[in-house]
Amino acid sequence: MTSPSPEVLAKLTPVLTRRWSTPDAWKIDVYERLDGYLAAKKALKAHPDDLIALIKDSGLRGRGGAGFPTGMKWGFIPQNDGKPHYLVVNADEGEPGTCKDLPSMTNDPHALVEGCIITCYAIRSNKAFIYIRGEAVHAARRLRAAVEQAYARGYLGKNILGSGFDLDIVVHSGAGAYICGEETALLDSLEGLRGQPRLRPPFPATHGLYACPTVVNNVGTISSVPHIVLAGAAWWKKMGTEKSSGPMIYSLSGRIANPGQYECSLGITLRELIELAGGMKPGHQLKFWTPGGSSTPLLTADHLDVPLDFENVAAAGSILGTTATQIFSDQDCVVYATYKWLEFYQHESCGKCTPCREGNYWMVRTYQRILSGQGTHEDLDTLLDTCDNIFGRAYCGLGDGATAPVTSSLQYFKQDYLDYIEGRKAPKLRSGELVGAH
Ligand SMILES: Cc1cc2nc3c(=O)[nH]c(=O)nc-3n(C[C@H](O)[C@H](O)[C@H](O)COP(=O)(O)O)c2cc1C
Ligand code: SF4
Repeated sequence: MTSPSPEVLAKLTPVLTRRWSTPDAWKIDVYERLDGYLAAKKALKAHPDDLIALIKDSGLRGRGGAGFPTGMKWGFIPQNDGKPHYLVVNADEGEPGTCKDLPSMTNDPHALVEGCIITCYAIRSNKAFIYIRGEAVHAARRLRAAVEQAYARGYLGKNILGSGFDLDIVVHSGAGAYICGEETALLDSLEGLRGQPRLRPPFPATHGLYACPTVVNNVGTISSVPHIVLAGAAWWKKMGTEKSSGPMIYSLSGRIANPGQYECSLGITLRELIELAGGMKPGHQLKFWTPGGSSTPLLTADHLDVPLDFENVAAAGSILGTTATQIFSDQDCVVYATYKWLEFYQHESCGKCTPCREGNYWMVRTYQRILSGQGTHEDLDTLLDTCDNIFGRAYCGLGDGATAPVTSSLQYFKQDYLDYIEGRKAPKLRSGELVGAH
C-alpha cells in the first residue's frame, strides 16, 4: 500500500460524508450539535420559490445516475393545481457496485430527513416517501428511528417549528428488485402494484404517485440540499466543474488496497482516486473499470486521467452513473465479469418488453457457450447484433444498461473473447458451472 501525496489528499471534500465518522451521528442530539436542522429552520423562513431558485443556481444534479438538474426537476411541479404533491426518495440502490446511499442513511439519516423537509416545503408537498430496498434492514431501522426522533422534536408532523407547514414521512421497504429503482417502476411498487416501468410521457412531475405531481430524487441528491441551503450555491459551485458542480461520493471497490467511499469534488480522476485508496492491490495492474456501476460502459487503463464528471466521462464514451468505480486487474477475466453482470440483468429484467427479456436471456447463453470453449466467431457478431436490438428499443434503462459491458468489453478486449473461441484460454465454465468449483 502506498500513502497518498498531500496534493491528492487535499482533493477529499467531505460534505455528505462529513458526519460519518462522528460516533452516534445518527442520533438527533449529535446531529443537532453538528449543525443539524439549522438548514430546515432557515428554509422554513424563506419563500419556497427562492429555495427552488437556490437549488437551480447551485447546479446540483441528481446523484441517482442520470445527473438530471435537480432545481429544474422541482420547477416542473405545477403549482396551485389543487392536487397533492409528493416527494419520493429513491433509496433502492440496486446497481451493481453502487454502495453510497446505504452508508449515508446508516451513518447520517437525519441529513436525508432534513433534506426531505426542505424539498417538500419547496415543492409544496405534505407527504414524502422514502423507498428503501428490502434487504437494507439496518439502514431502514436507522431511518425509521430518525423519522420518529424528528417527529418528537417537532421537525415533522403538523405546523413544523411554528411555520404552518405540515409534513409526514413514510419509510417504505421494497421487496428487493433492481427494477424498482427505475423511478416509474418504483412508483408502481409503492402503489402496491407489480414493479414495472410506466410508459412516459406523462412524466412523474405531472402524473407520478397516485397520478399526482411527484418529484423522485436519489438519497444523495436530497441529502445534499441542507448543505446548499446552509452554505449557499456559490460555496457548492466552488467544488466540481462548471457543469458538474459539488462533491460526489465515489465508491471504490475491487483490486485496490483500501476499497471504500471517497468524497471528492466532481472531476477527480481515477488515477487520483486510486492514489487516495492506497494504490492497486500488490501484484495487480489495472485492466478495466466501471465509472458508475455495471450499466456504464467499461473504461481501461488509457482512461486513468479522464475527469470523472458528467461531461468528460460522456466524452470518453461512458457514463458517470452512480460513481461506483469497480476496479479490475490483469488477473480478472473481462469475459467472465461481463457474463456475471448479464446474469444479473437477465434475472432482474421485469419481462415487460421483448428486447430486454429475450435479448438478455440469449446473451447469457452465448456467454456460457464462449466461456465453455464452444463459442464461434459468429457469436461475437450475434452479441453485437443482440445489443443493437436492445439498445434504444427497450422500454426502460435496464435494457440499455445491460448492453454497456458487452459492447464496451468487445470494443476494448475482443482478443480476450477470441482467446476462448480459438482455444488459447482454458474454458472457465462446464455445464454452466465454474470449472473446478464445488
Ligand atoms: C434499472 C434502473 C434502476 C435504477 N435504480 C436506481 C436506484 O436504485 N436509485 C436511484 O436513485 N436511481 C435509480 N435509477 C434512476 C431513477 O430512475 C431516477 O433517474 C433517479 O431516482 C432520479 O433521481 P435523481 O434525479 O436525484 O438522480 C434507476 C434507473 C434504472 C433504469
Ligand atoms: S427494459 Fe427490461 S426491465 Fe425495462 S421494461 Fe423492458 S423488460 Fe422490463
